[in-house]
Amino acid sequence: MPKVRLRSAAPAMLLMAALLTLSACGVTEYPNSTFNHTTDFNTSIDALFQRLIFWGTIVFVVVEAALIFTIIKYRKRPGGPEAKQIHGNAALEITWTAIPAVILVLIAVPTVKTIFQTQAPAPAGALKVQVIGHQWWWEFRYPELGIVTANEVYVPVGRPVNFELTTKDVLHSFWIPQMGGKRDLITNKTNYLWFTPSDTLASSAWNGFCTEYCGASHANMRIRMYTVQPDEFESWAKHQAGPAVFNPSAAPATPVVPVANVAQGDTAAAPAAPATGYVFPAEKLPAHVIPQTPIPAEVEFDDALLAQGDAARGREYFGRSTCLGCHAINGVPGAVSNIGPNLTHVASRHTIAGGLFRNDAPTLARWIKNATVLKPGSKMNAQGAGEYDRVMKMTVPATGVSDAQIADLVAYLLSLK
Ligand code: CUA
Repeated sequence: MPKVRLRSAAPAMLLMAALLTLSACGVTEYPNSTFNHTTDFNTSIDALFQRLIFWGTIVFVVVEAALIFTIIKYRKRPGGPEAKQIHGNAALEITWTAIPAVILVLIAVPTVKTIFQTQAPAPAGALKVQVIGHQWWWEFRYPELGIVTANEVYVPVGRPVNFELTTKDVLHSFWIPQMGGKRDLITNKTNYLWFTPSDTLASSAWNGFCTEYCGASHANMRIRMYTVQPDEFESWAKHQAGPAVFNPSAAPATPVVPVANVAQGDTAAAPAAPATGYVFPAEKLPAHVIPQTPIPAEVEFDDALLAQGDAARGREYFGRSTCLGCHAINGVPGAVSNIGPNLTHVASRHTIAGGLFRNDAPTLARWIKNATVLKPGSKMNAQGAGEYDRVMKMTVPATGVSDAQIADLVAYLLSLK
């Protein structure tokens, strides 16, 4: 092994230290960083973190300085005297016990304080949001407002929001790094997590993740959180609480990637589009919250068919299809199941499939046709006639949904704003 001389390695080590220091700067530019002050929660956690780093740095510098000084000053020199042989030093031992004890107290007090602060019950008047983990998507319920939605959660800035965390199946963990957290969803137990998005925040969108391994699509179980102004939230909530306005002649709802002519209609004769509530504008979505997942080419679908999709036909078909087995749509008789995501206002969401894909017509069509190809382990079965369901390990019979029917369903779903 070649001998590494301290003197020649020093510049490389200094450079590494400098790079490490630099990499810790400007963290607010990183989209999923936890080191920002968007909520009371992450502000207090960050204050604690800074404090620990401060004391840790002092200890490191003092100890290393003493160590280096001692090594150099008292090193063995040729012909030098033998070192003094001692046994014990009461003063020294008391000192090196007392100093760490004091440091531990300085660390423990703020740590325990922060733990109590972040574990305390939510303040009165907090917005209650039930978070229910599913393999592999998130259900959000606002019991006081009568809203059930999926994967995308809206909260107003300046008001504490209290998440009640439960799971329908296995363990999951709820984490929106920019807001603070994370906390586990445990079977047969309700966990709580609350924070207040700062009232100085502009309306913004944030990424959230499942951070407890929960099966094949654990990595594909994502959250979008929209922190919006109170009036925007009110408008969103008011509309989401009711059934979607069925308006087949309205422009297709393709929030991220517009696809022309999804729902056809005589726009000249059509009545003015009914008012829908606030939805976080697609053009304001930061790049890092827009899914970049490519659609697998294995699911073949002729996108030209989407132009012939008819929302009214799609609605009629939905009402007698197997979709009813899993999905609820407020206002559609029989569509009350909560096994899968509630689709009442599905067109007002920017993503589908646990935030994995953009919510647009081509993706939705392929998702309906064979979700098991788009998302590993998907609990949503393949629906397209002749498709091979990778989870059930069987082929959908010819009586399955045809591409034309899928186009109708897509037109219908994307009309549900
Ligand atoms: Cu849910 Cu990992």
